Amino acid sequence: MTLHELETPVLVLDRIKMERNIARLCGRLAPFGVTLRPHVKTNKSAEVTSRIGAPGTPVTVSTLKEAGYFLDHGWNDILYAVGIVPSKLPHVEDLMRRGARLTLLLDNVEAARALAVWCRERALSVPVLIEIDTDGHRSGVKPEDPSLLDIAAALGDEEITGARLAGVLTHAGDSYNCRSAEAIEALAEQERAGAVRAAERLRAAGHRAPVVSVGSTPTAHFARSLAGVTEVRAGVFVFFDLVMRGIGVCDTDDIALSVLCTVIGHQREKGWLITDAGWMAMSRDRGTAKQPVDQGYGLVCDIDGKPLSDLVMIDANQEHGIVRHRADPAATPMLPIGTLLRVLPNHACATAAQHGAYAVVAGGTALEAQWTRFGGW
Ligand SMILES: Cc1ncc(COP(=O)(O)O)c(C=O)c1O
Repeated sequence: MTLHELETPVLVLDRIKMERNIARLCGRLAPFGVTLRPHVKTNKSAEVTSRIGAPGTPVTVSTLKEAGYFLDHGWNDILYAVGIVPSKLPHVEDLMRRGARLTLLLDNVEAARALAVWCRERALSVPVLIEIDTDGHRSGVKPEDPSLLDIAAALGDEEITGARLAGVLTHAGDSYNCRSAEAIEALAEQERAGAVRAAERLRAAGHRAPVVSVGSTPTAHFARSLAGVTEVRAGVFVFFDLVMRGIGVCDTDDIALSVLCTVIGHQREKGWLITDAGWMAMSRDRGTAKQPVDQGYGLVCDIDGKPLSDLVMIDANQEHGIVRHRADPAATPMLPIGTLLRVLPNHACATAAQHGAYAVVAGGTALEAQWTRFGGW
């Protein structure tokens, strides 16, 4: 079978590009002697994750459902990298009793106390990382924040509570806003130094904090030093996307994911092609809107994945895409009805989340496999 025979829209994964992207990050991290703990929220697929590391290797997840799915497929060393709340602890317990070696994350005294009580009551031993905010991007406590030590104290004595402080975690998500290699390098160093500093403060206060976990795809690719870091997390590096291309982390040709769609109509006076891939197929993510080159809802390629002279998906309805020449509507080629196109996504995680499977190709249009992915919580 080939892509020509599929009913569109379809999520297409180029396995060759994906494997090249994986090899690139593994090769980059090898000299640093750190563990890669891939964030599997991007791919949500055992088939894809097994190309990064065999079952049993460490993974990071963003939902407990993801943890359950990967546990069922043999990955039991799982970091749940979203702050834990008491209401999710029964789910955590279920996963642990099924054999998951879960590490949890938190950044406040309330969650630490609740976890300590819960572990003690159930005689469960749970490793915990404290989330550190190294760039103001999202959650976490600042490396110098006095509450860092309060959180560690609230976890209590492992011998008594079972909650074990294992170290610190940070995610330099502000790297997505960087505009140069130098800026990403600087942020990578800020991420590293902040996480290491927080771990040192914990150790100086008498806590064990062996794990220093950092990462985002840009900082993982641009870090010059990882001194003091024990593991790196990255997710979107597997597929890459237009946002990563816009900040200079990859080239257009590295993007392994695209949405196959069909030209279903024309609006000649406006220079529009109408396709059957709307925001349901691409997601609403407009991550390149803030970048120097706005790619609309995606960059349009031919069936072989070759970009078509500045055709972009300028707008999206639920099941309709509007494709036009980026600068000059009159320059839009009126491709025949039925033409198959492939649209590169702004944000691979968001676009992939709209689909239940990957149609896998190896460079060309011949279908090599169909890999399922899961969704929901
Ligand atoms: C906690 C955490 N770690 C790692 C990552 C991976 O970052 P990226 O998608 O840039 O590879 C994310 C992504 O959102 C994250 O939230």
